[in-house]
Amino acid sequence: MPVVTIEDLSQHVGATVELRGWVHNRTSKGKLHFVILRDGTGFVQCVLKKNVVGDELFEEIGRASQESSLTLQGEVRADDRAPGGFEISVVGGEVLQSASEYPISPKEHGADFLLSRRHLWLRSKRQWAIIRIRSAVEFALRRFFDERGFLCVDSPIFTPSACEGTSTLFEVDYFGDEKAYLTQSGQLYAEATAMAFGKVYTFGPTFRAEKSKTRRHLTEFWMLEPEMAYATLEDVIQLSEDMIVAVVKEVLERRRTELEALERDISKLEACTGGFPRITYDDASKILLEHPDSEFVEGDDFGAPDETLLAAMHDQPLVITHYPKDVKAFYMKEAPDDPTRVLAMDVIGPEGAGELIGGSQREENLDVLLEAIAKHELPMEEFEWYLDLRRFGSVPHAGFGLGLERLVRWITGIEHIREASPFPRMMTRIRP
Ligand code: 4AD
Ligand code: MG
Repeated sequence: MPVVTIEDLSQHVGATVELRGWVHNRTSKGKLHFVILRDGTGFVQCVLKKNVVGDELFEEIGRASQESSLTLQGEVRADDRAPGGFEISVVGGEVLQSASEYPISPKEHGADFLLSRRHLWLRSKRQWAIIRIRSAVEFALRRFFDERGFLCVDSPIFTPSACEGTSTLFEVDYFGDEKAYLTQSGQLYAEATAMAFGKVYTFGPTFRAEKSKTRRHLTEFWMLEPEMAYATLEDVIQLSEDMIVAVVKEVLERRRTELEALERDISKLEACTGGFPRITYDDASKILLEHPDSEFVEGDDFGAPDETLLAAMHDQPLVITHYPKDVKAFYMKEAPDDPTRVLAMDVIGPEGAGELIGGSQREENLDVLLEAIAKHELPMEEFEWYLDLRRFGSVPHAGFGLGLERLVRWITGIEHIREASPFPRMMTRIRP
């Protein structure tokens, strides 16, 4: 008898198969049990009749509460009324472990209660849907870059210096004398590998000791950072747009069931077809200064409410460019026609998703970069290797960083970023 997964049931209609999983829910009516079985790939209703499966199994199933582990054998029947379109007429099975009093019942629980039981909460349908979408997003991203000839060259996690400002560094003791930090971004190393391999991306965990308890911040999150030699701001804007469109399209194809389980308004994702609106920082500032609901101060970076306001004017992600040099990182290239502005781009997601992507063309001129490092009061000696990239064959180059959980949050339509990570790390939580 073939052992199959719930997501593949459509290929086995009429056959008798074995499913291996857990009791998601059970209801009983006289000589009938209805078990919603979950196996990680999906959920399916299994019908057990006492006269078919025999007294022993029937009674055992009758005692098996939520999250008991079991295997069931039965015939796959296509049934339009069944959730998922299939139902199993059970002929046999085995309870491996009968669970007792599973703490997460179908009733409502508070966020803290659930987060403390994240190792179990992951089994619920909503979390199942989110994490499966996350996996599809990661796969789509890797496919996108692989197909475009980008080499995956990962950056280190222990680093001796800051990339995105010293205020959000996590310090670690590195064998006593040496101080090390958990990386905020793999970018500086991605720049080095771009000069070695042309088009690269790094994809891994990054860390920010940000004291922000918002629905958009984690202290540990995954960032995907492409970097291209011989590339401009325009090139990375186009790349970010193509990437988001490709990922959303693939998720719509591969994870529709999960999006539906989350009751996601799919039309919002279907609207993401490319041709993202673009605006400069200066033009965006003008809109905000005239807007009655904005507290924006001229010359400042945009706050989350400002970004939400601007993005709400569009159905697709909004690209904001040419920020003031003063609000951005040291490595960004000065705009050739205005030294107070940098060739930066942020991609702001719709529906309050906030900043999904931050990127720029990089300063390739050694002298300008030396000045910027000094101005940001960064330790010059730690950047000597990075400056070598400007001494030996410096070329225009550009890249960006995409926050994986931010993108997953937007695609799934969940309110809080913590659910976009299997085991979220936040200012107030590192357990389980
Ligand atoms: O805008 P950021 O800080 O840019 C960089 O780190 C650049 N070095 C990237 C590059 O050009 N290679 O971060 C990039 C993205 C943000 O747009 C956001 O999506 C995400 O990383 N991000 C966070 N996600 C979750 N929690 C946090 N605390 C985040 N901080 C940034
Ligand atoms: Mg940013």
